[in-house]
Amino acid sequence: MNIILYGPPGSGKSSVGQALAERLGREFVDVDARIEAETGLTIPDLFAQRGEAEFRRIESAVCAALAARSRLIIAPGGGALLEAANRAALERTGLLICLRADAATLLDRLQASAVPRPLLAGPDPLARLNALLNARRPVYDSFVEQIDTTSQSIPQVVERVLALLEPRTLPVNAPGFQHEIALGYGLLEALLPTLEARGLSGPKVIVTDENLAPRLPTALRHLPWAVLPAGEAYKTLDSIQALFQAFLKHGLDRKGLVIAVGGGVIGDMAGFAAATYMRGVRWVNVPTTLLAMVDASLGGKTGVDLPQGKNLVGAFYPPALVASDPLVLKTLPAREIISGMAEVVKHGVIADPALFEVLEAGAAFGGLEQIRRAIDVKVRVVEADPLEKGQRATLNLGHTVGHGVEAASGYQLRHGESIAIGLAAEAQIAEQMGLAERGLAERIARVLERVGLPTRCPGLDPAAIRAAMSSDKKKAGGKLKFALPKRVGEVSWGIEVDEPLLMATLKAITAD
Ligand SMILES: NC(=O)c1ccc[n+]([C@@H]2O[C@H](COP(=O)([O-])OP(=O)(O)OC[C@H]3O[C@@H](n4cnc5c(N)ncnc54)[C@H](O)[C@@H]3O)[C@@H](O)[C@H]2O)c1
Ligand SMILES: [Zn+2]
Repeated sequence: MNIILYGPPGSGKSSVGQALAERLGREFVDVDARIEAETGLTIPDLFAQRGEAEFRRIESAVCAALAARSRLIIAPGGGALLEAANRAALERTGLLICLRADAATLLDRLQASAVPRPLLAGPDPLARLNALLNARRPVYDSFVEQIDTTSQSIPQVVERVLALLEPRTLPVNAPGFQHEIALGYGLLEALLPTLEARGLSGPKVIVTDENLAPRLPTALRHLPWAVLPAGEAYKTLDSIQALFQAFLKHGLDRKGLVIAVGGGVIGDMAGFAAATYMRGVRWVNVPTTLLAMVDASLGGKTGVDLPQGKNLVGAFYPPALVASDPLVLKTLPAREIISGMAEVVKHGVIADPALFEVLEAGAAFGGLEQIRRAIDVKVRVVEADPLEKGQRATLNLGHTVGHGVEAASGYQLRHGESIAIGLAAEAQIAEQMGLAERGLAERIARVLERVGLPTRCPGLDPAAIRAAMSSDKKKAGGKLKFALPKRVGEVSWGIEVDEPLLMATLKAITAD
């Protein structure tokens, strides 16, 4: 894993990068310095003699070459990652951290350094710097990991980078299923030592799907694999049968370890296969979608679908370890990330106002701390109610209407998109009932929209949504029970909703 330090001129990329490289005993590459070395020209001379376009071309070539290597600390120039291809190349290879500081601090640092800055030439450098920062702000803001370096010394920033690199260990203490969740950048690459350190030895088989298989790190490629076709359509007993065959073929015995690397579909199936193969072998879940990290990998539920419905066969069978590496999200399609954010928002509404507020304030999605907080909400609920006797029903927030929407769309809407619509609708219901504080529905809808999620489903048939809700297996005693929000951070459960209010809300969310 490379570590890429990016940010505006003066943010300290090079000095922090150098100090960090020394601390970690790694090589530091300053992209501008590399360009100067390769062309034999200073950056200002290169700009003057060959023009900015040529400079950018050389810069892209250098980024591509660095992306082929690992264990580097890389500091690209301030404009390097405005080019999407450079960004994608470098982000695929490691953790990108954006260093920020206010304009006055940046200018002070730039003026104190001897390096000439062609982009800041002219009589009013602060005005030029501000113009540059404003133009690039959307790009700088789009990085999930940000460190504000204003009033921070270089060693202090280095410490903050090191803290970000440190894997978190989150214990799950539910009776009958104690285990750990490890969360950290680069964990997938370091999976084998991570297992070793926890005594998870023995013969291993990796279960993954066809999308993930080509992306697995080389460190895992010598292990036997079972590769399933991707997608919910293959979450079937036939796939479980294929897994059993693969386990037998690879000689997996009762001391063996099944390692699931994939989204919720792979986790649910590998876990179920592990629960039943030879009456149960240990398994490790390595979730690779945001939804799987903050939801599906937590709580010990495993299973498959039947033609008659989703998740109709399964077992509570927690893994020995969940290992989540947010770096794998870099290859996840944007729609999947956004869909997973619905569960992150949901967890904020259930029990973490600070998480909700970070999203309200415009944070980019899927950073380590956001994921940790979202995991924490579900773990606390599962610990309080491991066998789904009561409080765990709060996790169903947004899902009563959401499942109806998902089914009525013929599964054209992603799960998270349907849940977003369900969250918005259920918040409206709660407000109409006088259960939720005023303005809550509007606040929740605004966050969902900011994340890029839908809050309405014009054109769907409200009666079809209602009918699909009734067939939801979570209805208790023939009556639909809702989890409904009271305010951000507090949810009630087991609530019945009057039919006319429910139908009026479904009509409102489906109206053109
Ligand atoms: N066990 C539980 O408690 C629980 C909770 C919620 C959901 N689930 C289950 O989770 C499933 C949905 O999970 P999902 O949303 O993760 O879908 P998924 O597993 O189908 O993954 C979505 C798609 O993304 C691909 N993919 C996964 N990781 C990738 C990566 N890092 N880069 C590129 N592509 C990647 C997959 O191949 C797949 O095509 C459903 O079956 C649902 O029932 C289970
Ligand atoms: Zn869900």
